[in-house]
Amino acid sequence: MNLSKWFFANWYDVLNSIVEPYVIPYRNQTTSKCEGHVVEIGGGTGANLLFFDKAEKITFIEPDPYMRSILSKRIHNIKKPIDVLPNHGENIPLKSNSVDSVLCTLVLCMVDDVEKVISEAHRILKPGGKLYFYEHIKAKSKSGKIFQLLLDPFWKFATTGCHLRRNTLDVIKNSEFTNIKYNYFNLNVGIPFTIPNISGEAIKKKEKN
Ligand SMILES: C[S@@+](CC[C@H](N)C(=O)[O-])C[C@H]1O[C@@H](n2cnc3c(N)ncnc32)[C@H](O)[C@@H]1O
Repeated sequence: MNLSKWFFANWYDVLNSIVEPYVIPYRNQTTSKCEGHVVEIGGGTGANLLFFDKAEKITFIEPDPYMRSILSKRIHNIKKPIDVLPNHGENIPLKSNSVDSVLCTLVLCMVDDVEKVISEAHRILKPGGKLYFYEHIKAKSKSGKIFQLLLDPFWKFATTGCHLRRNTLDVIKNSEFTNIKYNYFNLNVGIPFTIPNISGEAIKKKEKN
């Protein structure tokens, strides 16, 4: 048993409830837009479950067994076909060009290889399909960068692997996705410092005939 992972999974919703009211608008801007067959990479405990308004089928990719156990109990109330797969976002066991939407919320900060996850999201999407993302990223300001640098080791430990200083936006911009639209903003969750965030979407280009 991995005690720190067990602890993080079981406290995730409690800790998250402090910031969740501030995060809901961004779940609405991303999760609520996902259509058709949706794949959520890093489904966690199912914080997005209430927001999948347009999804017809949901596949969660969740490698953490403790998160998966909480998620699996929670999906019973949802009247849509749902699969929970124990894989990593770096290696998704779905066919290429097979899904309509891919969702990443607060997960690219935790994966081992952001480029690989974005490339897998692109691979499984049908041409014209969309990636939706809501992530915290590296600060732009000098004070923000210093703050993140100092907090990062403790934060990684406390969260079992969340990185505060990732250039996630650059990875998405440098990927095969097109029509990338995003908002960069500093999220104020009622504490003395703000958290740099991005929320947006990107399209897998349609093949030309
Ligand atoms: C901070 S939680 C976010 C959960 C949820 N998406 C949300 O918005 O609340 C990050 C999740 O990503 C999962 N995760 C970590 N590494 C991953 C990987 N390589 N592939 C897929 N999921 C991963 C973790 O197990 C955890 O459940």
